[in-house]
Amino acid sequence: MVFVISCLSVNGKMSLLTATPSAQSSVSSRLLRLSIFLLLGLPDSKGKAIWTAHLNITFQEGNQIISELGESGVFGNHSPLERVSGVVVLPEGWNQNACNPMTNFSRPEQADSWLALIERGGCTFTHKINVAAQKGANGVIIYNYPGTGNKVFPMSHQGTENIVAVMIGNLKGLELLYLIQKGVYVTIIIEVGRVYVPWMSHYILYLSYFLVFMFTYYCFYCTWRPQMPNYSLRRRRQMKVDVKKAIGQIELRMLKEGDKEIDPNENDCVVCFDTYKPQDVIRILACKHFFHKACIDPWLLAHRTCPICKCDILRT
Ligand SMILES: *[C@@H]1O[C@H](CO)[C@@H](O)[C@H](O)[C@H]1NC(C)=O
Ligand SMILES: *[C@@H]1O[C@H](CO)[C@@H](O)[C@H](O)[C@H]1NC(C)=O
Ligand SMILES: [Zn+2]
Ligand SMILES: [Zn+2]
Repeated sequence: MVFVISCLSVNGKMSLLTATPSAQSSVSSRLLRLSIFLLLGLPDSKGKAIWTAHLNITFQEGNQIISELGESGVFGNHSPLERVSGVVVLPEGWNQNACNPMTNFSRPEQADSWLALIERGGCTFTHKINVAAQKGANGVIIYNYPGTGNKVFPMSHQGTENIVAVMIGNLKGLELLYLIQKGVYVTIIIEVGRVYVPWMSHYILYLSYFLVFMFTYYCFYCTWRPQMPNYSLRRRRQMKVDVKKAIGQIELRMLKEGDKEIDPNENDCVVCFDTYKPQDVIRILACKHFFHKACIDPWLLAHRTCPICKCDILRT
C-alpha cells in the first residue's frame, strides 16, 4: 500500500521534473524520506530490533572503587528502554531463580533503588520479573544458563509491568553473584546502548528497498517514455528547418547553350539519369557537384548529403 501511494505521488511530481530543478530535488528528498520511514518503521513495527544495554558496574574492593563499563546486556523485548540504576540484590534462599512468589530479596536498608540479579530457568521470564517487581525492584538483571558463556538474547516477557529487564551472560552474572555473596556492595547503572536490526528484518528491509527501487524505476520509465518521441520530434523539426535554410543558401544557376555542363560527354544528373539541357536550373553544392534543382532539393531535405561524395550540407 505504501509503495503504491509513493509511486503515485512520485508520478505526480514527475511532470514538473523537466520544468524546474527544484522539483527534482523534492522528488529525491521524498524518496529519501520514504527510505528513512522504512528504516525506522520496519524494525519498530515488527518489534524485532535488539537494544543492547551498557552496564556500568561499580563496587569497592579494599579501599579502591572499581568501575567497569561494558555493553554486556540486551534489553528484553517487553522492557521499557530506560536508564535505571541501583544496588544489586540477590534472591534469598538456596537458589537464585526467584520462581517462588514468596522469594525475599536481601535488600540493604540504605538503598532506595535496587536491581534484582536472578538466574535464568525454573519458570518463565515474566514470572520471575514480576516476583522481583512485586518486591519493589527498580530493574531486573537475568543471567543466562551455565555453559552459555557470555551469550545473550532479547527475552520475551509479555505481561510484566513497566520494569526494565535486561539479560547478561552467564559468566558476567556469576562474577556479580560471587562478589555480592562475599558481601561486596555492587551498584549498576543500566543505560540504553545501540540498536541492532536482526537478519530477518534486514532481509525485509532490503526487500522493501528493492521494491521501492523497482517501483521508482517503473514510475520514471512510464513517465519518461511518452516524452521521448516528443523530444526527438521537436529536434527533428528543428533540424528540418535548419536543412531547409541551408539548402536555400546553396548556389543556383540556370543553364544556357554553350555551358560545359550541357556537353554530352559530361555526366548525367545522378538523381534522374537525364542529361542537362539549356534552361535547366541546377544547384551547385559546396563540393562542386551539381544536380537538377528539382532533383536534388527533395534528396537534400531527406539526406542532407551530396549523393556522390556524401559531404554534409550543414557542415560546409
Ligand atoms: C560509572 O558509574 C560511576 C559511579 O556512578 C561513575 O563515577 C563513572 O563515571 C561511571 N563510568 C562511566 C564510564 O560512565
Ligand atoms: C520471606 O520472608 C517472609 C517474612 O520474613 C517469610 O515468611 C517467608 O517465608 C520468606 N520467603 C521465603 C521464600 O523464604
Ligand atoms: Zn536530375
Ligand atoms: Zn559532392
